[in-house]
Amino acid sequence: MNKKIITLIITIAIVAILVGIFMIIPKSSEEKDNSSSKNKENNQVNNNENNKDNNKENNSSSIAVIYFSASGTTKKVAEIISNETLADLIEIVPKEKYTSADLDWNDSKSRTSIECDDESSRPEIANVINVDNYDVIYLGYPIWWGDVPHIILTFMDTHKLDGKTVIPFCTSGGTGISGSMSTLKKYNKNVNWIDGERLSTKESDIIEWLKSINY
Ligand SMILES: Cc1cc2nc3c(=O)[nH]c(=O)nc-3n(C[C@H](O)[C@H](O)[C@H](O)COP(=O)(O)O)c2cc1C
Repeated sequence: MNKKIITLIITIAIVAILVGIFMIIPKSSEEKDNSSSKNKENNQVNNNENNKDNNKENNSSSIAVIYFSASGTTKKVAEIISNETLADLIEIVPKEKYTSADLDWNDSKSRTSIECDDESSRPEIANVINVDNYDVIYLGYPIWWGDVPHIILTFMDTHKLDGKTVIPFCTSGGTGISGSMSTLKKYNKNVNWIDGERLSTKESDIIEWLKSINY
């Protein structure tokens, strides 16, 4: 073979090898980068999940959201607080459920009108609630006639809240929490009461409030 042709073939072969090398190297390092950033992402997700689980383990033993709700509004708020704080969610269930006739505030003879007028009324609670493990309790209720429903007083009578931090929250048609807050403060002076708030079911407002009280 002619010397020139051999040189040409060798040159083409060298160029082809070099091109091949330049194409493969960046690809494999890209793959490396991608897989390492993917690993990082996966680790981050796992860490977040682990933190969530750890928080749940750490918090669930000390924080509870305990609420009474006759028609579901306070329940929605309680669920959001529990989700945000990773606290245990516990409903105060009345032994005798409130019907819509019971809740008719226009009827002076309705069950709620009679209960709210009678200072000594203490509607019975159906479920057993153990508050021993909780240091902090979010206590939720609807406003009835500017105040707490008397079943909340039943709860206070039958559960030892002394020394615990209790953060009330309420829902209402417009009345604020202050009237019910002063009833609660007077009812048990041994509780570390944190001034609560009337809340709507808007999640962002609830989160904002939770941030503001810093619990
Ligand atoms: C008997 C009764 C009395 C109420 N009194 C008031 C009141 O004084 N002020 C107010 O703003 N809303 C009042 N409401 C409206 C409730 O507070 C409101 O609808 C609340 O969000 C209901 O919560 P729930 O769905 O968790 O039971 C009253 C409701 C009932 C049934």
